[in-house]
Amino acid sequence: MSGDLEGPDVLDRPGTAVVTGASSGIGFEYAERLAALGWHLVLVARRENRLARQAARLRAEHGVRVEELPADLSEAAALARVAERAGRDDVDLVLNSAAINGYGPFAEADPGLLAKVVALNVTALTVLSRAALPGMLRRGRGAVVNVASLLAFSGDLAPSPGGPPQRAVYGGTKGFVVTFTRILAAELADTPVHVQLLCPGLTATEFHLTRGEEPVPGDTPRVHDAGGMPVGDVVRASLAALRSGERICVPGLDEPAAVARLADAERDIRRAAGAALAPRYRGGA
Ligand SMILES: NC(=O)c1ccc[n+]([C@@H]2O[C@H](COP(=O)([O-])OP(=O)(O)OC[C@H]3O[C@@H](n4cnc5c(N)ncnc54)[C@H](OP(=O)(O)O)[C@@H]3O)[C@@H](O)[C@H]2O)c1
Repeated sequence: MSGDLEGPDVLDRPGTAVVTGASSGIGFEYAERLAALGWHLVLVARRENRLARQAARLRAEHGVRVEELPADLSEAAALARVAERAGRDDVDLVLNSAAINGYGPFAEADPGLLAKVVALNVTALTVLSRAALPGMLRRGRGAVVNVASLLAFSGDLAPSPGGPPQRAVYGGTKGFVVTFTRILAAELADTPVHVQLLCPGLTATEFHLTRGEEPVPGDTPRVHDAGGMPVGDVVRASLAALRSGERICVPGLDEPAAVARLADAERDIRRAAGAALAPRYRGGA
């Protein structure tokens, strides 16, 4: 898929944005930047105290309307409430940023936590995209930004101490976000609605302070020790990509040709695989 198609500049006419993961990190910063551009906001995350503080500040500083919608998006009833809000007619932008990592050895991980990783990172993102898009298509404007991760492209990287974490399920969910969002963007390419896949690398947020069962304590966003790109730069890249119409935004990537090569590699596999059993498998049982 091309990464440089010209898209409608949804940012030019501020409407209402639903931002998940708004209590910290990329979602928090995105809400801040949208409010500064005049967008009204619906802030979604579990920590009510954080949402309330941020909402009050954004109303005071930018004069925009801000709704607090506290919800655990891994729970069906709460997700349905947020989906109902995302489907209303004023919503022109959805940022699906909320995610947890559930890092750890797969065979030892709490199955309940792994189910939560999938429910939040995959199901909630899909349900909210589905809720918001019909109205956007009807009105002829809007954008959905889905946050994946460079770890979606790390299938050949073995976990190691000090290196990449044990992340089979997290990486798998982000692989879903990549493929789902790319195919959805292709499906909607001829519409005025813009779908962006945002693929940050390591980013300086709270993300590595918890596996995600429980929120990180405290009233203000913190930063893990792992380092990474400042959130302001990640959001800046995503907003620039919304303006330019770029559908796959990798904030640290200066050479967009690498994205095109990913599509080339996929095409190569599809083309090279014939309909008949490959000779190298024919000798077996
Ligand atoms: N930081 C990195 O290195 C990095 C790298 C690549 C991609 N990403 C991706 O970037 C996105 C944002 O992560 P971040 O770095 O900003 O992490 P973060 O600072 O930990 O923020 C995660 C957000 O998700 C919310 N959240 C977690 N569980 C939730 C639940 N069950 N229901 C609703 N909201 C929930 C958190 O709020 P509550 O706890 O209040 O619910 C928080 O607002 C994620 O999709 C992540 O996978 C991060």
